Amino acid sequence: MALFSSSTRQIPSAPAVPEHVAVIMDGNGRWAKKRFMPRVAGHVKGVDAVREMVRHCLDQGVRYLTLFAFSSENWRRPQEEVSLLMQLFVKALEQEVDRLHRNGVRLRVIGDLSRFEPRLQQLIQAAEARTAENTQLDLTIAANYGGRWDIMQAVNRMLAAQPDKHDTWQESDLEPYLTMHYAPEPDLFIRTGGEQRISNFLLWQLAYAELYFTDTLWPDFDQAAFGQAIASYQQRERRFGRTSEQLQSSAPPHA
Ligand code: IPE
Ligand code: IPE
Ligand code: MG
Repeated sequence: MALFSSSTRQIPSAPAVPEHVAVIMDGNGRWAKKRFMPRVAGHVKGVDAVREMVRHCLDQGVRYLTLFAFSSENWRRPQEEVSLLMQLFVKALEQEVDRLHRNGVRLRVIGDLSRFEPRLQQLIQAAEARTAENTQLDLTIAANYGGRWDIMQAVNRMLAAQPDKHDTWQESDLEPYLTMHYAPEPDLFIRTGGEQRISNFLLWQLAYAELYFTDTLWPDFDQAAFGQAIASYQQRERRFGRTSEQLQSSAPPHA
């Protein structure tokens, strides 16, 4: 199992174009409300924005794109909205996978999928299998995902794999069991829709991500808006605990 360097155990590289972008796609409901449309119209428009975002990432050379589509807390929404979101998810899988495959995109869905209808689970499995060899972009959709759920399922699987181990567990023991073990940690985190919170997204993996919040609503998040996020990222000094002087001198860092 290929493991990437951990931001807390080694100093990672800080690529000029983020290698991994993780997004909380928020503001669909407000986008629709502003237009006196039902909330679901915002979600439909949100799928268009996802298609565009995949294209921009392919164009820019972003290697991993992770999108929060449905949180483990979103079941608390009115049943009608939840059911429409599930239908939309099914429709998107039926309609978009061909295009993703043609563009060399590998699709994965992370989260507790057991709560989804069998039809949706089958579509997810088929899409993952069909795109498994693609290497242009790794697209991950987080659905019924929660950062705490992710850590707990990893802890449980780690302990079950070595029931007789009694010495101290390390971060590196847990990491292979986290759902995103196949990707480096996100370089850039984007949340649209104006809220400045993590909402139980990738809690472990965002340890050293650059955080970017924008008021732009997800359906309006276009190439220019993404360009602004990348430009903001490129102005950041990613110190990973070191001083600015250390970064500017050519002296090799400790550890
Ligand atoms: C994000 O948009 C999409 C999902 C959570 C499924 P919202 O539906 O949260 O939109 P707002 O925040 O109500 O505008
Ligand atoms: C977070 O959005 C989850 C997704 C975008 C899927 P929410 O709109 O549900 O977040 P909160 O509840 O307002 O924090
Ligand atoms: Mg919201």
